[in-house]
Amino acid sequence: RRVGVLISGRGSNMVSLAEAAQAPDYPAEIALVVSNIPDVAGLERARGFGIATATVDHRPFGKDREAFEQAVDELLRLNRIEIVVLAGFMRILTPWFVKRWEGRMINIHPSLLPLFKGTHTHRQALEAGVAEHGCSVHFVVPELDAGPVILQAKVPVLPGDDEDRLAQRVLVEEHKLYPAALAEVASGRARLVDGAVIRG
Ligand code: GRF
Repeated sequence: RRVGVLISGRGSNMVSLAEAAQAPDYPAEIALVVSNIPDVAGLERARGFGIATATVDHRPFGKDREAFEQAVDELLRLNRIEIVVLAGFMRILTPWFVKRWEGRMINIHPSLLPLFKGTHTHRQALEAGVAEHGCSVHFVVPELDAGPVILQAKVPVLPGDDEDRLAQRVLVEEHKLYPAALAEVASGRARLVDGAVIRG
């Protein structure tokens, strides 16, 4: 399956997906990487894999979110993209885009959903005093960070942890979790049916 990855910056999750997709039997090909911010490191890293890249700067569109999303959507369709992967993509998508891609769009969120939706998840975890934390890959639905979870990975919260140490421990798991989750979706083993993940 042809996959388009949307990024906004570093692109470390995109890199782990590109590496996994180099395996001949991996059920997905990273065919396009699109950033909403020009010249971010992730674009350079994608080019290093020989992956086609594009920038659709959201700023000229101002408050017209749908116009920005229509430009992204056209690019995805021109590249015959079948699955959209959000990887460090920092724009909230409108129901218009989400509905178009529902069941074929996934995201990685750095918490054990439904815990700690939104931003600064590691800070939320530390402030909540939880003993374990982690990351979740989920299908994207219109409600933010509320989509059905495909896979999760857990890490311990350790004494002396600060946001950065905890974030780094979670990121190591993200880089393993995302390739596994994308394989589940691209192979058809995991599907979104009536708001739930169906396997088989
Ligand atoms: C990661 O923490 C990921 O969980 C979140 O964005 C952060 C940056 O990801 N979605 P990346 O390094 O840009 O892939």
